[in-house]
Amino acid sequence: MASDPTALAAHLKKYYRVDIPIASDGRIEFAWTRRNSEAILNQLRERFKDLPAGSKVLELASGSGEHLTKLAQQMPNITFYPTEGDSMLLPSIDAWIKYSNVQNVAEPTVLNFGTQAFSHPVDAAWVVNVTHISPWAHTVGLFTNLAQVLGPNAWLGIYGAFNRNGQFSSPSNKDFDIDLRERNSEWGIRDLETVEAEGNKHGFVLKEVHEMPANNLFVWFRRDT
Ligand SMILES: C[S@@+](CC[C@H](N)C(=O)[O-])C[C@H]1O[C@@H](n2cnc3c(N)ncnc32)[C@H](O)[C@@H]1O
Repeated sequence: MASDPTALAAHLKKYYRVDIPIASDGRIEFAWTRRNSEAILNQLRERFKDLPAGSKVLELASGSGEHLTKLAQQMPNITFYPTEGDSMLLPSIDAWIKYSNVQNVAEPTVLNFGTQAFSHPVDAAWVVNVTHISPWAHTVGLFTNLAQVLGPNAWLGIYGAFNRNGQFSSPSNKDFDIDLRERNSEWGIRDLETVEAEGNKHGFVLKEVHEMPANNLFVWFRRDT
């Protein structure tokens, strides 16, 4: 799986409006992925550490693939399934798999979580930095489609910027929201209560809310029985 670096750089600049570094082997290096990576990986490791060996864990919107492959290195007994809506990012996920030398990661696949269910049942799932940078309909689709592949008691982790009771958690998140909405009128920081209510409609119950660095939250839903 190879990509044209010039075309990829232009594609990323159009979406993110800044230059994104791409390593010579095709690995995309998003600054924000790296910045909060340790705290995010700690959450994921803690949550998945009691899963039985051989469990299958799905990531939606894997982006570059950096988070998933780092987690896979740390949890060799679990099989991880990277997916991404943007097919141009798949070569980067593939390059991160090779770079990390992990054997427990499935081939990355294109999946729009807003409109499609994953191809088979999994034991847990997570998504990072996406609910604010995609239309609300995609979050509705996220719960709808995950309800088809996550069984009773399965965990779903969602990380990102959220409002609480209609309030921004910081001035920087307010500015971020304005910027997002200028870029796409369907994007914007969501109220956690609205996300929770949507999850409830699809059988997901909000169990834990963790404060994370830079005014982000890691929220954990559990599929009811
Ligand atoms: C800000 S990036 C986050 C990437 C990665 N999770 C991370 O934290 O580094 C947002 C990603 O969400 C993906 N995305 C947005 N809507 C999606 C959808 N409906 N289905 C799958 N991927 C989607 C975009 O293609 C992009 O890669």
